[in-house]
Amino acid sequence: MSSLTSFPTKTKLPDGPKSSGIALVIQSLIDSFGLLEKNQQKYGDIFYVPESSMFPSCVIFSDPKAIEKVFTADPSVFDVGAEPSAPVRAILGDNSFSVIQGERHRKQRKLLMPPFHGNRIANYAQTMIEVTNEVISKWKVGQTIYFHEYTTEIALRIILRTVFGLDEGDKYDRLKEVLLDWLEIFTNPLKSMFLFIPALQKDLGSLTPWAKFVRQKRIILEIIQTEITRRRANPDALGEDILSLLLTATDESGEKMNDDEVRDQVMTLLYAGHESTASTLAWSFYWLHSLPEVSAKLKTELDSLEKNADLMTINKLPYLNAVISETLRMNPIEAIVGRQLKEPFELGGYEFAPGTSLFPSIYLTHQRVDLYPEPKKFKPERFLERQFSRYEFIPFGGGHRRWLGDAFAIFEMKLIMTTILSQVELELCDRRPPKSVRRGLTFSISGGVRMKVIGNR
Ligand code: HEM
Repeated sequence: MSSLTSFPTKTKLPDGPKSSGIALVIQSLIDSFGLLEKNQQKYGDIFYVPESSMFPSCVIFSDPKAIEKVFTADPSVFDVGAEPSAPVRAILGDNSFSVIQGERHRKQRKLLMPPFHGNRIANYAQTMIEVTNEVISKWKVGQTIYFHEYTTEIALRIILRTVFGLDEGDKYDRLKEVLLDWLEIFTNPLKSMFLFIPALQKDLGSLTPWAKFVRQKRIILEIIQTEITRRRANPDALGEDILSLLLTATDESGEKMNDDEVRDQVMTLLYAGHESTASTLAWSFYWLHSLPEVSAKLKTELDSLEKNADLMTINKLPYLNAVISETLRMNPIEAIVGRQLKEPFELGGYEFAPGTSLFPSIYLTHQRVDLYPEPKKFKPERFLERQFSRYEFIPFGGGHRRWLGDAFAIFEMKLIMTTILSQVELELCDRRPPKSVRRGLTFSISGGVRMKVIGNR
């Protein structure tokens, strides 16, 4: 870890909280968004947290000009950093897209682009609608459900089918069961504290959360590896899914991914590919059912669709798009994105030393009053009234690490939403606003969104 004191800074550093280390980690695990807001109110648009025994120094900011500078900088200036990326490595592995860098990251990202773009996305539409129908067909009028459990089930099944080519049978059941059990560890931010505190990543007995985490992860990796081995040995077993593509694709230098790489990328796609979609959908349904004027407008738009409307017409519905964008603005699945400096970097009139982590904050940017007046209000109309730049609206991050499958994720959420809304009437059981809570690497919704099925449409 490089120390700021050994680097000759040209200007003084921005002000910021003096406490760092364990106290800050615990505070940020309990209420990251609140902590970010409190510091912004106290220190302004850019604030600095000094190096501690646990973490390198970092700077957090939300000014779109500063964000543009970081997202358009040459990627070679950045590193993912050993300490900042430790939780991601623990969950997804050392070969995950999220932690590899440089040429390797650029080449492997390129391999992943085709399945997440253009016609390929339309090919997944049928799967997305079928899975949603299968899951909601179990609901009975009068039943009370935790809506987030069902969006998790839908999103996980979609990703298991599109990435892994699995949707039923023993292999599918086993993988789904272990994955859900493993994800359960992340539902309690204090229990999953071990992810952020390396000192807790020790074998202190088989009953600790860390021991369970390691055990379950090993089983998941074994299942993925068995499937990789089976398909490598038997090319007839290759299909249209993303795993088959990762096994066969060659990069521009003619190289294929090895087993470890494929395994960690599959793990990344399984994890990242359902958690975020499931939470965003749960938030959308909460907002729709707590704001009757918003749901009435969306219903009018959906009712105006012809019976067998083309799926691409659904994809272009303006109010549906605005509802999803407003949910991603209000309830981002990450509070910040991180880039660690390899070289000195000037930002907002300050010069930061190598080793400093730059954290553009998705949450604080989306709460800026100058961009989003009355930022605490859910108002989809703001996305109809103006276009926001890639540095003002950043739910998928930005620059060389921006999630390239945003079109896939948005299309998926639109299809799931319209499939549910066109068939079922739901009502919130509890009108108290939920909170954004940490769940592993991302943020999710507290309480699971308890709803009652009140009728069929
Ligand atoms: C609501 C939906 C989603 C949101 C809001 C979201 C958000 C994000 C964000 C903020 C990042 C970090 C980007 C950065 O550092 O600049 C990211 C990275 C990533 N996401 Fe997502 N994501 C979503 C859905 C998905 C889906 C469906 C998949 C997979 C099928 C996925 C796979 C990934 C991967 C592989 C990365 C790492 C990219 C890299 O480092 O190059 N995400 N996502």
